[in-house]
Amino acid sequence: MLKDKFSRHITDLRVSVTDRCNFRCIYCRSAEPENYQPPESLLTWAELLRLCRLLGQLGLHKVRVTGGEPTVRPGVEEFIARLAALGLYDDIAMTTNGYLLAQKAATLKAAGLQRLNVSLDSLRPERFDRITRTRGALDRVLAGLEAAQAAGLAPVKVNVVVVRGFNDDEILDFVEFARAHGHILRFIEFMPLDADHIWDRTRVVPAEEIRGRLESAGLPLVELPRHYASETARRYRFADDGGEIGLVAPVSEPFCGKCSRVRLTADGKIRTCLFSQLDHDLRGLLRDGASDADIAAEIESIVEMKEDGHHINDPDYRPPNRTMVFIGG
Ligand code: GTP
Ligand code: 5AD
Ligand code: SF4
Repeated sequence: MLKDKFSRHITDLRVSVTDRCNFRCIYCRSAEPENYQPPESLLTWAELLRLCRLLGQLGLHKVRVTGGEPTVRPGVEEFIARLAALGLYDDIAMTTNGYLLAQKAATLKAAGLQRLNVSLDSLRPERFDRITRTRGALDRVLAGLEAAQAAGLAPVKVNVVVVRGFNDDEILDFVEFARAHGHILRFIEFMPLDADHIWDRTRVVPAEEIRGRLESAGLPLVELPRHYASETARRYRFADDGGEIGLVAPVSEPFCGKCSRVRLTADGKIRTCLFSQLDHDLRGLLRDGASDADIAAEIESIVEMKEDGHHINDPDYRPPNRTMVFIGG
């Protein structure tokens, strides 16, 4: 079992399978085209799978596939099937923008995907276009959510990053939408990881404020036990038993003390924190013919260096060296 120097057990892997995305959300990617990594910099599926196997053999047992947008990389279904066949992970999940789900949900489920989190930041078509800098994508995402449910991936978690002045007037609409469709709704505090640096503290809508707004609207919440200690969301049910809601509050209620996550990027780096100032290369080792034992030893020493947490609330906070689209959330 991997442990860091603060005695946190590392059990969760978030693997970014591509740095590409078919959206350009204002709180994530830049409006300008990024310099995508050249294809040879990205790990092949076989290389990714080898690292997932080694990490699983070191005791990680939950895996979440992310991007960029994971569904844009051809072969992601086969990758999920191979991950499942390793028999090392008891929780195989994906975070996606949902745009390609109408086509892919059934195959992903058949491949062994167990859980799905879908980002959805507005229910109003024009605003959705503005936030994601796409055209007419909302209907496809809504169709994707339906396809996911039909494929047996319900309940889907719907992730809403709340940005004051952009979509915080839709909080109650989202509640109604999620309750009507049987989704688990999650409101997420905006974090300072965005490429265009629009983040500032006034844009964050703290979880406490959301609890208050729901209460004032006649929707009090009752807290539910965590599924696992390092869960990002605090879970609640609506007091009238109308479904589950999660509040993810990394800014106002940080959860780093119990963090169990490491991230593997599409170009073969381990990131020990979402907010790391540097990442640790494994691609070089892989491509230089390192043995499993050598790579495992390197992973153990990287995990040792895991940061205590983010320092978003410190006066000398520095954003990480990669923006969200290159980390995968
Ligand atoms: P579940 O196991 O389904 O609860 O998944 P999750 O909440 O870990 O995954 P998801 O990709 O849906 O992330 C939801 C939000 O939590 C996103 O805004 C993530 O960026 C944020 N998040 C996920 N992991 C971390 C983390 O380690 N640190 C911080 N600060 N935020 C995180
Ligand atoms: N702050 C909070 N959440 C973010 N996400 C992307 N960028 C940010 C940010 N700056 C969310 C996405 C997705 C998850 C992986 O992270 O909406 O749901
Ligand atoms: Fe873990 Fe870093 Fe996220 Fe905190 S900010 S929960 S330490 S990954």
